[in-house]
Amino acid sequence: MSIADYVSRCLLDPIDGYYTKHVAFGEAGDFITAPLVSQMFGEMVGIWVAETWAAMGRPSPFRLAEIGPGDGTLMSDILRVADRVSGMRSAMQLVLIEPSPTLRAIQAARFPEARFATAPDAGDGPLIVIGNEVLDCLPANQYVRGEAGWHECLVGLSDGRLAFGLSAEVAEQLTPLPGQLGDFREYSPAQRRFAVMLAQAVKTSGGAALLIDYGRDTPGTGNTLQALYRHQKYDPLDAPGEHDLTQWADFPAVAGAARAEGVTVSRITTQAQFLRAMGIEARLDALAARNPGQAEKLQRQYHRLMSPDEMGELFKVIAFTSAGLPMIGLEADTAAD
Ligand SMILES: C[S@@+](CC[C@H](N)C(=O)[O-])C[C@H]1O[C@@H](n2cnc3c(N)ncnc32)[C@H](O)[C@@H]1O
Repeated sequence: MSIADYVSRCLLDPIDGYYTKHVAFGEAGDFITAPLVSQMFGEMVGIWVAETWAAMGRPSPFRLAEIGPGDGTLMSDILRVADRVSGMRSAMQLVLIEPSPTLRAIQAARFPEARFATAPDAGDGPLIVIGNEVLDCLPANQYVRGEAGWHECLVGLSDGRLAFGLSAEVAEQLTPLPGQLGDFREYSPAQRRFAVMLAQAVKTSGGAALLIDYGRDTPGTGNTLQALYRHQKYDPLDAPGEHDLTQWADFPAVAGAARAEGVTVSRITTQAQFLRAMGIEARLDALAARNPGQAEKLQRQYHRLMSPDEMGELFKVIAFTSAGLPMIGLEADTAAD
C-alpha cells in the first residue's frame, strides 16, 4: 500500500487507529502541542479570531469551527479571549470537526454547546476556521529518486514483517521534478483536498481560515515521516496504531490549492512572527507582572513557542480570507495572485 494509506490506517482505523485508542497529549503522553506548552498560544489565536470577527463586521451569528481540537485546550484559551469581547460569545456557534470518537467524547464533555460536523459546511453563514497540527495528520505519498525517475515508496510484507519497498515503474507525473539519486519527495493529495475544502467553505460562507503546523515553506526534497511514542522517535513500521505518525505540512502546496479556489492566501509566516504580531510579548509581560513567582516558567514557555531552536521557525502559519476581508497579523501574498 502507499505511504499515505499506511499512515491513514495507522492513525484513524476505527478499531486500532492511534487517534481511536490513545489520548496521548502533553508531557505524560507521546507529544506536546503549542496550546499545551502555554496558554499564551491559544490566547494569541483567540485575538486573531476576535480581530477577524471584528473585520468581518461582527456578524451574529457566526460559526467558529476548529478542525482536530485534540483535548480542547486551544479552544478553551480562545473562548477565554472571546468572553472578553463584547457580543462575540453570544454571536458564536461552535463547530468541532474531529474524526476520532475518543477525542469527540472528551471535546463534547468540555464544550457542551458545540455541534460536531465532518467539515465546515460551505454557505452556512459567516465562518472562521482554525486548525493547529492537523495538516501533519494528513498523509503524503513518498517517492524515491532512482536512475530512471521517481519510484513510489510502498509498504508491504517481507518474510512476514512490514517492510518498505519501491514500485518497479516510475511515477510519470513527478518526472519533471529535480532530485539526486536516493532523494525523497512527498506529495499529499489529502493536504491538497483539505485546502480546497477549506477554501471553498471560506469563499462561499465569507470569513477566514488559519492553519498552524510544522512543515516546509518552500518546495523541496526530504523524508519527513516520523513516529513518536512517549516523546521518542521510532521506526514508522514498528507497532502500527501505537505510535503517532506525522509528515510535514506542505504549505506551498496548501497555498496553491487554496489560491486556485479564489480565496486570498497569506504569505507563509513563521509561528514566531505570527505570535509576535498578535502581541505575545505584551501578554508575557502582563502575565509575569501578575504572577512574579511564575516569571521564569513563563519565560521558558515563551522561549519554547518562539525560539528558532524550538517551535518558532519550524512551525508555520497560513491564512485564507474571502474577498475583501483584511488579513489579521499576516500579509496577503499578492505577488502569487
Ligand atoms: C496533533 S493533534 C492536535 C490537537 C490540537 N489541535 C492541539 O493543537 O493540541 C491532531 C488532531 O487532529 C485530529 N485529526 C487527525 N486526523 C484528522 C483528519 N483527517 N481530519 C481532521 N482532524 C484530524 C486528531 O484526532 C487530533 O484531534
